Amino acid sequence: MIFAANFKTNHTRKSTQVYVKELNEKLAAKKPEDKVYIFLPATALDVYEGDFRVGTQNAYPAVNGAYTGEIGLEQLAEFDIKTILIGHSERREYMGESQEKVAEKFSFFQKQNFEIIYCIGEPLHIREKGFEAVMQYLLAQFEGIDIGYDHLIIAYEPIWAIGTGRSATVEEISTTHRALKKVIDNKPLLYGGSAKPANIKEIINIAGVDGVLVGSASLDASSFSQMILS
Ligand code: 13P
Repeated sequence: MIFAANFKTNHTRKSTQVYVKELNEKLAAKKPEDKVYIFLPATALDVYEGDFRVGTQNAYPAVNGAYTGEIGLEQLAEFDIKTILIGHSERREYMGESQEKVAEKFSFFQKQNFEIIYCIGEPLHIREKGFEAVMQYLLAQFEGIDIGYDHLIIAYEPIWAIGTGRSATVEEISTTHRALKKVIDNKPLLYGGSAKPANIKEIINIAGVDGVLVGSASLDASSFSQMILS
């Protein structure tokens, strides 16, 4: 199973050091085949030792240059970061990243051989239209994306389940993952959206779920490790 923490705009460099220390203590008991990722805010990126991989939540598709406020490959290389989240709904929605921009980012980091966790997800009004509308919406988020890329993990995160405390139901996750698995070349497929210690067992037991991408419940090292060790 894959357990990925997305800190979003939470934690500092200092609090991340404390977090990593606690996580490492807990990870001593983790199953060796399970993989752990933590996606940190840019200011907390650093070289951390432990049985996990550090990723960036975002970067600009350039080595360096005049892109005020962004970080590029050069800044990531300083800390040996080779893992990135692309396509998160919060970036699509709040930062206005179009599918075209997302695809450009994907292709740049693919050329750099990064491990990419590529996020897709539908808003509530699409979910309410029914399953066909959901799949049509999700498949459009693969436009310009090389699904055959070797170092690719997909994360299905229904927007209405993110940060709301209301996870998708087992039935919703199961049906969506089954349909997605048919088109994603059997790449690992994570679920994200209000995953937490109370529902983790039920989620990771669903066929077609290869792990979780966790926001709120990952911010506390003991809650996140409880999920990993469940
Ligand atoms: P929550 O776990 O807070 O719902 O966030 C999910 C998410 O967006 C992870 O990328």
